[in-house]
Amino acid sequence: MRVPHNNEGITSARYAKIGDVNSIGKYAVLSDRTVLGAGVTIGNHVTTHGQVEIGDGTIIHDGAVLGRAPMSAGNTTRPLPPDLPPLRLGSGVIVGANAVLYTGSTFGDEVLIGDLASVREGCAVDQNSVIGRGALIMYETSIGARTRIIDGAVITGLSRIEEDVFIGPAAVSINDNEIYLKRFGLLDRVWSGVTIRRFAVIGAGANIGAGIEIGRGALVAPSAMVTRNVEAWTVVGGVPARYMRHVSDDAKNKILNAFGLVE
Ligand SMILES: CC(C)(COP(=O)(O)OP(=O)(O)OC[C@H]1O[C@@H](n2cnc3c(N)ncnc32)[C@H](O)[C@@H]1OP(=O)(O)O)[C@@H](O)C(=O)NCCC(=O)NCCS
Repeated sequence: MRVPHNNEGITSARYAKIGDVNSIGKYAVLSDRTVLGAGVTIGNHVTTHGQVEIGDGTIIHDGAVLGRAPMSAGNTTRPLPPDLPPLRLGSGVIVGANAVLYTGSTFGDEVLIGDLASVREGCAVDQNSVIGRGALIMYETSIGARTRIIDGAVITGLSRIEEDVFIGPAAVSINDNEIYLKRFGLLDRVWSGVTIRRFAVIGAGANIGAGIEIGRGALVAPSAMVTRNVEAWTVVGGVPARYMRHVSDDAKNKILNAFGLVE
């Protein structure tokens, strides 16, 4: 059997900066509307669909799929958006092996996306954030700068996560408390994502209910089920989650000082 040479399988990729060195693995299939910055590394078996813009020095590991369009076989509740903008990745981004990034999402510079993670359409992920291995970010969710979403977390659609948030492994969130009727189209299709304010921490395996707001600097204990809004700088835990204590002034001030802030 013939051993394929490097770049075999590339289809009509267009390069933003001709002459800059990009490394493209075997069996990569890039759409003719893929635009590569300088020094991009594309692994083996990477596929891009539609318009995908990849910033300078970004690394796409083996098997990643970029620019995937959302689809329905007619059996999903939420209507799909008709026209979506391109998928845009900033500079110095790392996309893990077999990650799937949908069209219509944007990623700032130096975002790290773990192996097998998936980010749906219409999301905006700010610079230096981390989307851990196998984490799932649903549609139209925003994630602030430097926020870290650890392995296996599931962030529901229409959520707003501010900067410097930490979401522990396997934490999940909900955006629909009326699924019992809504799944049959027997109620209006309205969804409420979660809001997580700056400096908050969500413990491993915690669950944040639909429309809930987790206040600035709040801490949700591991395995909590949060059914009420959480006040800023408080600790909650349990099922359902109850107030445990306040974050100490010392811890709060250390965080604020580190960011040059006062409250
Ligand atoms: C939740 C957390 C703040 C508790 O720390 P703490 O305030 O020092 O609590 P303590 O361990 O001293 O325990 C105080 C009480 O809270 C209880 N408690 C501790 N963790 C709890 C939890 N997850 N759910 C409910 N109650 C909890 C303890 O049983 C104890 O109760 P008691 O006084 O009746 O015996 C702390 O464990 C934490 O920050 N966890 C986050 C871990 C995490 O998810 N990391 C992610 C990366 S792996």
